Amino acid sequence: MRTQIAVIGGGPAGLLLSQLLNRAGIGTVVLERQTRDYVLSRIRAGVLEYGMVEMLRQSGAGDRMDREGFPHDGVCVSVDNQPFRVDFVERCGKRVFVYGQTEVTRDLYAAQDAIGATIIDQAANVALHDLTTDHPWVTFEKDGAEHRLDCDFVAGCDGFHGASRPSIPDDVRTDYERVYPFGWLGIMSETPPAAEEVTYASHSRGFALASMRNPMLARSYIQVPLTDRVEDWSDDVFWDEFRRRLPHEVAEALVTGPSIEKSIAPLRSFVSEPMRWGRLFLCGDAAHIVPPTGAKGLNLAASDVHYLFEAFKRHYLDKDDGGLDGYSQKALKRIWQAMRFSWWMTMMLHSFPDSSGFDQAMQKSELDYLAGSDAAQKVFAENYTGLPF
Ligand code: APR
Ligand code: PHB
Repeated sequence: MRTQIAVIGGGPAGLLLSQLLNRAGIGTVVLERQTRDYVLSRIRAGVLEYGMVEMLRQSGAGDRMDREGFPHDGVCVSVDNQPFRVDFVERCGKRVFVYGQTEVTRDLYAAQDAIGATIIDQAANVALHDLTTDHPWVTFEKDGAEHRLDCDFVAGCDGFHGASRPSIPDDVRTDYERVYPFGWLGIMSETPPAAEEVTYASHSRGFALASMRNPMLARSYIQVPLTDRVEDWSDDVFWDEFRRRLPHEVAEALVTGPSIEKSIAPLRSFVSEPMRWGRLFLCGDAAHIVPPTGAKGLNLAASDVHYLFEAFKRHYLDKDDGGLDGYSQKALKRIWQAMRFSWWMTMMLHSFPDSSGFDQAMQKSELDYLAGSDAAQKVFAENYTGLPF
């Protein structure tokens, strides 16, 4: 089997890259470890930067997002139950879309199927070979047989736990990481969203986030200790704690209901450099992880895909490798900007178990400044809606 680009991973990064490449006449094969149903069962964040929105439209997979997604012009931030709003349109002239990542992935699978793209699911034990030669190849197991895929390049879109990043030698790679001392307990419920706009709540009891997927599907989170388990939290106990942390008027109007999904996710900031090794190019979570506070995970995958797609196009259509040679540096510049914003939001909004009185005063000062400064809100808005690609 042979293709131009072997794409490892059938999540949002791999599918979006494959879709863009196919539409530009560049052949791909996507190798996904799980079943499609498993991939589509994952619950992830739901805020799309305007850059991601445009890329979905450019890929021909944006129609349902345009029909069913919700443009949001701002967010609410509350400090000890007192809310204020950051208006994105007023501050930076942009907005975000609320549209679940699961739906983005579903739409990308549908778009790939519509153009007859090759996606091999349940591809086990993917291994990358001869990455530093002009003839890399990939092996994988499927239906009990081993297969070989020869290619020009490998796009490592296989997430944090994938096979691609470890294929870059340890003495070449530098990993940067911060693990946060708490997790997010998330609940999906078929109830009206707690508020009209995404609401980030800082509270002495801990952080809370009220989000949504549609007018009858709420996505709610509270910060919990890393030692907590899902079974420690009944729905009622969750809703009571969620109410305590929200703005008063939001809490009073909250409509609760049974959880249809409940899970605890850890929070980390992670970047691996470089994002290229020979003919392997990392993309998305394979190279970086952000805490969900800034809603940057999927959107960072989008900017990686944008840079890598443009680079591959220049290689094949213009016989110019400038994009490929500059990919890692260019992607990492924007990644570190998003890493900073996600870290800053996380540090500002969460309660840290070992924080000193001074630390807490600094958090309060950050939030007070954000509440009262046009400049601070402009900085927040341009980072939240997405820095330019
Ligand atoms: N071989 C093949 N596929 C693999 C392997 C492997 N060894 N390891 C992982 N995969 C698959 C996973 O099953 C998953 O479907 O690669 C895909 C990676 O998808 P994501 O983890 O969703 O990463 P990415 O496509 O970069 O999207 C980033 O996803 O995790 C969220 O918060 C993150 O929103 C961000 C987005
Ligand atoms: C979500 O809707 O799941 C969501 C929204 C904003 C975030 C994180 C998650 O910052």
